[in-house]
Amino acid sequence: MTAPLNAYLADNFAPIRSEQTLDDLPVVGKLPTELNGMFVRNGPNPQFPPLGRYHWFDGDGMLHGIHIHNGKASYRNRYVRTNGFEQENKAGRALWGGFLDPAPSGSQGGFKNVANTALVWHHDRLLALWEGGEPHAIAVPSLETLGSYTFDGKLNSSVTAHPKVDPITGEMMFFGYALAQPPYVKYSVVSAHGELLRTVAIELPVGVMMHDFAITEHYTLFMDLPLTFRLQRLQQGKPALAFEHDRPSRFGILPRHGDNRSIRWFEAPSCYIFHTLNAYEDGDEIVLIACRMGGTSVLGASSGSHEGDNRQIQTDLPLLHRWQFNLKTGTVQEQSLDDRPCEFPRINEQYLGRRTRYGYAGKSAPTATPKFDGLIKFDLGNHSSQTHHFGTGRYGGEGVFVPRSGATDEDDGWLMTFVHDEAQDTSELIVLNAQAVTDEPIARVLIPQRVPYGFHGTWIPAV
Ligand SMILES: [Fe+2]
Repeated sequence: MTAPLNAYLADNFAPIRSEQTLDDLPVVGKLPTELNGMFVRNGPNPQFPPLGRYHWFDGDGMLHGIHIHNGKASYRNRYVRTNGFEQENKAGRALWGGFLDPAPSGSQGGFKNVANTALVWHHDRLLALWEGGEPHAIAVPSLETLGSYTFDGKLNSSVTAHPKVDPITGEMMFFGYALAQPPYVKYSVVSAHGELLRTVAIELPVGVMMHDFAITEHYTLFMDLPLTFRLQRLQQGKPALAFEHDRPSRFGILPRHGDNRSIRWFEAPSCYIFHTLNAYEDGDEIVLIACRMGGTSVLGASSGSHEGDNRQIQTDLPLLHRWQFNLKTGTVQEQSLDDRPCEFPRINEQYLGRRTRYGYAGKSAPTATPKFDGLIKFDLGNHSSQTHHFGTGRYGGEGVFVPRSGATDEDDGWLMTFVHDEAQDTSELIVLNAQAVTDEPIARVLIPQRVPYGFHGTWIPAV
């Protein structure tokens, strides 16, 4: 009898085993000749069968890149060769447990830095990110791993998967969080030249899982949401991580170069947020737009709810919301912007931290595993949206916005994502005209290898 197959090791969540370099890929439609650069996406791809129960977040990071130049496209995929990856590669088997079984007998202690979550391009450097540890520098366009990256030894925290690069000043802001020990958050600013300028502690009452944050032109915004970590729960035989429905959400706003003394905290109803779309300043207010869930059971977190599993499933659905934090009066307003579940929100990052009219997000499919069956383009200016549907049996990932060089309109550019056709078991990169998202893709780059579903991607211009 075989064990039931984990859904995240099956179908298009299953890992692929080969690293390939493939040139001159077939293209349906036409890649614009002015579109030159590389789309790279990160995601989990376990090198070996897991020791214990597998969680989607556990797999070793694998990068899939499509290099586009003069209307032609090439593909390559490479593992992020972390220390843990190399050790397991040498051993020929998994040595670390995962999030659901952190230390099964015979395994390494702690967690393996799998570098599998996201990427950031800053100061001509590509970093592969995992929020529990240090980044890994990646060569472009080869996608070979150069090694872990510590900002000349100045890094003294983990690094979020979602650093923010100010499009005007070129500064990069990031934070790292610790679950079990104060200071629970450390916040860092990196100069446009890649120098880590400063790291300050942000005080929280208790450790929380903090996946993302936001910046505006002058401020940085932290989300202290009630997905808390308490060691005493372990003594009661429960998961250490739990969502506390009776605890409010706290949003902390501080000047970009401020510290814990200058942070102002605002309270709002209990919720969880994985990803922010954007934040900006509007008079006395800081506006945040993000995908809000009523709660979460991520990583096996128990729920403070007494209303059973159905409520948990319902409240896990992410919906686009807006918060307005008034710096003068201290008031908070919260408003739902759309009633369709969506996640992996992105914008034209040339407008990050400034008022944006458009946002793009994956449209959550009604499937047991998290998949997107389309991309939604939100027009926040006139409260409307348009949806690109991938088609029957076709599911895609995060839509990355690529601005047209010299564009003056915010939505003048392209949206890109990998799409998998479940009937054909084939993968492709689709390129949409972001000003006409309901149209057929202007180009479909057919990839001769399956690209498993994954997490976040980025666009690297003209490499
Ligand atoms: Fe993320």
